[in-house]
Amino acid sequence: MQPFSRIEVILDNITRITADAIVNAANSSLLGGGGVDGAIHRAGGPAILEECRRIVARQGGCETGTAVITTAGKLKAKYVIHTVGPVWNGGTHNERKLLADCYTNSLLLASEFKCKSIAFPNISTGVYRFPKPEAAAIAITTISNYLQHHDDISRVILVCFAEEDFNIVNKAFADAARP
Ligand code: APR
Repeated sequence: MQPFSRIEVILDNITRITADAIVNAANSSLLGGGGVDGAIHRAGGPAILEECRRIVARQGGCETGTAVITTAGKLKAKYVIHTVGPVWNGGTHNERKLLADCYTNSLLLASEFKCKSIAFPNISTGVYRFPKPEAAAIAITTISNYLQHHDDISRVILVCFAEEDFNIVNKAFADAARP
């Protein structure tokens, strides 16, 4: 199936979404934070943090652009994939590549764990201040490129939390999907 027909953009709270994997915009400590990180830990419960702590004990933290996978605790998902987005620092510190890596590495873990559906927040566009239009374009390009070569994932949901983000991501999606 065409990549773009497997991507959808919605306005919602990601902790309410039913998908095999929910992606968290974490920080390198993996020990929780504010924003979507705080929301996922609050809604998913302590089992998620306990598993994050075990990962940190084993491998140290999570490097920017990489991803780890844990239980989803009480969420309507099988897994939470924690990925660490780049902090925007003017665009001269490899931020674009690192953001694309977040999406690719999260999708690779989803495929490895046989997920058919995965929901993403707008990684790095909150506290990490990545410009929203460009982050949306990177997300959609990276996800569609991945789906071009992986038909195991049938649904990718881009979950926007605010109307402004929903409009930005929808426009980026329309621009990218235009033949
Ligand atoms: N559902 C979906 N999206 C959400 C939710 C939610 N419940 N809460 C926030 N968001 C959106 C924000 O509106 C933003 O568009 O997630 C996007 C990412 O924002 P942040 O959560 O601030 O994440 P990020 O910019 O990647 O910064 C990560 O923030 O919370 C800390 O521990 C986290 O240090 C890390 C940093």
